[in-house]
Amino acid sequence: MADTMQGLKRTDYCGELLKSKIGKRAAVCGFVQKIRDKGSLVFIDLRDRTGIVQLVFDGGTPKELLEKAAGVRAEYVLAAAGAVRERASKNPELATGDIEIFVDDLRILSKAETPPFEITQTTNVNEELRLKHRYLDLRRGEMQHAMIMRHKIVKAARDFYDANGFLEIETPQLIKSTPEGARDYLVPSRVHPGEFYALPQSPQLYKQLLMLSGYDRYMQIARCFRDEDLRADRQPEFTQIDVEMSFADEDDVMKVNEEFIKHVFHKVLEVEIPTPFRRIPYREAMNRFGSDKPDMRFGLELCDLTGQLQSCEFKVFSGAVKTGSVRGINVKGAVDKLSRKEIDKLVELVKTYKAKGLAFLRISLEGESSSYEKFLSEDEKNAVRQALQAETGDVLLIVADPDNSVVFDALGALRRHLGEKLGLIPENSFDFLWVVDFPLFEYDAEENRYAAKHHPFTAPAPLDIGKLESEPQNVRARAYDMILNGCEIGGGSIRINDMDLQRRMFAALGLSEETAKERFGFLLDAFQYGVPPHGGMAFGLDRLVMLMLGKASIRDVIAFPKVQNARDLMTGCPSEADGKSLDELHIRTCIHESK
Ligand code: AMO
Ligand code: AMP
Repeated sequence: MADTMQGLKRTDYCGELLKSKIGKRAAVCGFVQKIRDKGSLVFIDLRDRTGIVQLVFDGGTPKELLEKAAGVRAEYVLAAAGAVRERASKNPELATGDIEIFVDDLRILSKAETPPFEITQTTNVNEELRLKHRYLDLRRGEMQHAMIMRHKIVKAARDFYDANGFLEIETPQLIKSTPEGARDYLVPSRVHPGEFYALPQSPQLYKQLLMLSGYDRYMQIARCFRDEDLRADRQPEFTQIDVEMSFADEDDVMKVNEEFIKHVFHKVLEVEIPTPFRRIPYREAMNRFGSDKPDMRFGLELCDLTGQLQSCEFKVFSGAVKTGSVRGINVKGAVDKLSRKEIDKLVELVKTYKAKGLAFLRISLEGESSSYEKFLSEDEKNAVRQALQAETGDVLLIVADPDNSVVFDALGALRRHLGEKLGLIPENSFDFLWVVDFPLFEYDAEENRYAAKHHPFTAPAPLDIGKLESEPQNVRARAYDMILNGCEIGGGSIRINDMDLQRRMFAALGLSEETAKERFGFLLDAFQYGVPPHGGMAFGLDRLVMLMLGKASIRDVIAFPKVQNARDLMTGCPSEADGKSLDELHIRTCIHESK
């Protein structure tokens, strides 16, 4: 039988016991970090979420208690009480390193098996093992710090928006589909055979309806679900700080949300963020950085070489210019760091972004080598060098493709890769910006139609409304993304609040009136009853926390995340449902039939 806590009440947290307690009694509770048994002297480091304190048992300890202490193992759960005294040998690494507790009451509340990995502050243990035993991983100081910081960030968000007149209102999780461009997770209805709820990809439509209902300013810490391919900064379920405001234009939305960033960085990290953030039009971001979420902490900007190369003999280049482009980067002074072998690796990198190749010119003191110059005239060679301001020591890297987006994707990725590899990115810096003037539509070649770049409720720029039908590709959106260090941490838009315009938008997206009615009928109905102009945005909370804490993955700031294939390694879900549950849901799976 394990001991109980009867008659013993915790007086202090382990990490908070200070010198001022010397001479007084203290009772602490926690997990055994470490035990050192030196025969007549036993030390136990006891850990709770605030830190570690040393328990001591020595010559003055009754024999039975000393033996009990010596039997303790790592991760046992204990309560211990005794006199706080000054330590003989102090530990400056520990906040409580000046003191120890001379224990006269020790309770072993729960024994523990040897854990599959040691519970340490930081760790090299592979992530799979950590996630399988996440409850143990979460005992580590590093994870506890991340959870505590996340809590503080959420609290700062609630406090800030509350102080600015936003009401937190919950919206449902079992809904009719809200499209944000990903696949829905579906939930079968038991009561209505053959019918399904969708889990929200975001609270988008509900928050717009709340504006229509007169709530004026809304926020929510909202859980969202998207069935999409996962990456380091994507999870199938994630959390947004979701915001919407009435009678507001883009400047109002951007201002409030910049102020939130200022507030949360000040409160949680004591870092002062200058506002307002600069704004970069989407076109400029693409042309200069090959990305709509540019990391502007370093150079390596793209240069358009299409003009210089449009009539050259080299088919790789001239074949690209008609529908696409030829663009390059000058990696200044990097010739010693980018050998032929290194460049071969870069070729492989750009190929993963669908580029067919990567042309290069290396200009070193010892000589020059190039994969493309032999195909160009003297004038063309010089024009390229001039456009990229090539000098001795430089490496020029060029991508050509008949599809512009391939050129941007490949060079954008190459630029990020080189920025990191060459150490061009300043550490511990927070670089915020807005990307604005997004196109309203993007062409979906597979479906052969235009799709909304943001979502179908985003308003077109007033000056471009006339082009909705005639030149949809040239219509700009009243949308904005907030970028931090090359990561999209939030995005939003001013919404359409005019039914006729919303209908034209649906039509431009190729949605028939019936389909629009079937999918968004409730919204169109609601819009008949008066809609204030409104707009808003949503932050990806997990991404914000990840960047604030300097973590590499959002999994590091989520208590129970899923892995790449959307599985939870700890519980093993998703898992098969038993026949009875499926019968009740009127569902038959075809997986066994096809096996
Ligand atoms: P959007 O789809 O841009 O906009 O999402 C807003 C922010 O949410 C974060 N995010 C994610 N984080 C983790 N895992 C994911 N799978 C994931 N997907 C998105 C990003 C992103 O910037 N309703 C609109 C907002 C609005 O218009 O107000 C929306 O959801 O940081
Ligand atoms: P090729 O004639 O296809 O062997 O191409 C000659 C050189 O052009 C290759 O070694 C590459 O360096 C470069 N190259 C090929 N395709 C591309 C491309 N799409 N963009 C840029 N450079 C390319």
